[in-house]
Amino acid sequence: MRIVKTKKELGDIVGEKKAAGLTVGFVPTMGALHDGHLSLVEEARKDSDFVVVSIFVNPTQFNNPEDLETYPRDLDKDIKLLEKYSVEVVFAPSVEEMYPEEDTRHFDFGQLDKVMEGKYRPGHFNGVAQVVSKLFDYVKPDKAFFGEKDFQQLAIIRRLVKDLGMGVEVVGCPIVREPDGLAMSSRNQLLTPEMRKNAPVIAKTLFDSLNFAAGKTVKQTRDAVVNRINETNMLKVEYFDIVDGDTLQTVENWDDSDYIVGCIAVFAGKVRLIDNVTYKNRSHEH
Ligand code: PAJ
Repeated sequence: MRIVKTKKELGDIVGEKKAAGLTVGFVPTMGALHDGHLSLVEEARKDSDFVVVSIFVNPTQFNNPEDLETYPRDLDKDIKLLEKYSVEVVFAPSVEEMYPEEDTRHFDFGQLDKVMEGKYRPGHFNGVAQVVSKLFDYVKPDKAFFGEKDFQQLAIIRRLVKDLGMGVEVVGCPIVREPDGLAMSSRNQLLTPEMRKNAPVIAKTLFDSLNFAAGKTVKQTRDAVVNRINETNMLKVEYFDIVDGDTLQTVENWDDSDYIVGCIAVFAGKVRLIDNVTYKNRSHEH
C-alpha cells in the first residue's frame, strides 16, 4: 500500500495502471474510518483491479467552522485499517495540495440541493462537488463508491458526473449500522455517553415508521417521527423530509412516487447526525 500526498505522484501511479489496462475503483472519505467506509472499500476491492482511497477533510464543504475543527482525524489508525483491506493507494493530500488557490467554482444542481442538507447547510454541496470533481480528475476512476447514508450526496454526485460528462460509474452502497441500529458515522465519536445511549432512537423511530406508515398519511407519518425523536432526551430534529428518491422533492401522498425515502437530520447537542429509510422502491414495496 502506498501513501501518496501529491496529485503528481497519484497521477503517475494511476496513469501507469490504467495504461496497463487495470480498472480503478475509488472510495473518497474524510477519514476517521469505520465499518461504513470499509464496506465501500470492500465493494471497490471486489469490483476493481486497483483501489484508491482518499482521506481528506475538505474545508470547503463545512459551513460551520466548529464542525471543521472538531471533525475527528486519525490518519495513522486509518492507514492501519486500510492495510488489512489490501488497498493499493491511500491519497491523503494537504489542504494546500488540493486548493493551491481558492476554488471559486459554483455548481448548479437545480432543485436537488435546495432541500434538506442543502437547505440547512448552505454551500455544503458546492464544497462536496468542488472536492469530488478534483478527486475524480486526479484518480480517473472507472467506478466510485458512495454510501446511501448520505442519500442526498449520492444523488448530487450522480448529477455532477452526468453534468460534467465524467465517465465514472457511481455505485451506491447500503447504510452500515451499529448493532443497536445507529448509522455509523465518524461524528458518533463526538457523542457523550448519554447522547450515544439515546441516539439509536433515530434509527428505531425510522424503522418503526415503516409499519406505522401503512394506513397513515405522509404528514401523519412525518409528524409521528419528529415528535417521538423530539420527545427523547438530548435529541432535536432539524428536518425530516419524506421525498421522491430521485428528485428529492417532498411527496404529499404515498402514491405520488414509486420511490419514497425519508431523510432526517438530528442534533444531539452540537453533534449533527443524519440517517434515512426507504418507504417504497421500484423493486420492493413496504
Ligand atoms: P465521509 O463522511 O467520510 O464518508 C465517506 C463515504 O462513506 C461517503 O460515501 C459516505 O456516504 C460513506 N459512509 C459514511 N457512513 C456510512 C455508513 N454508516 N454506511 C455506509 N456508508 C457510509 O461523505 C464524505 O465523507 C465527503 O462528503 C466526501 C464524499 C469524501 C467528500 O469530501
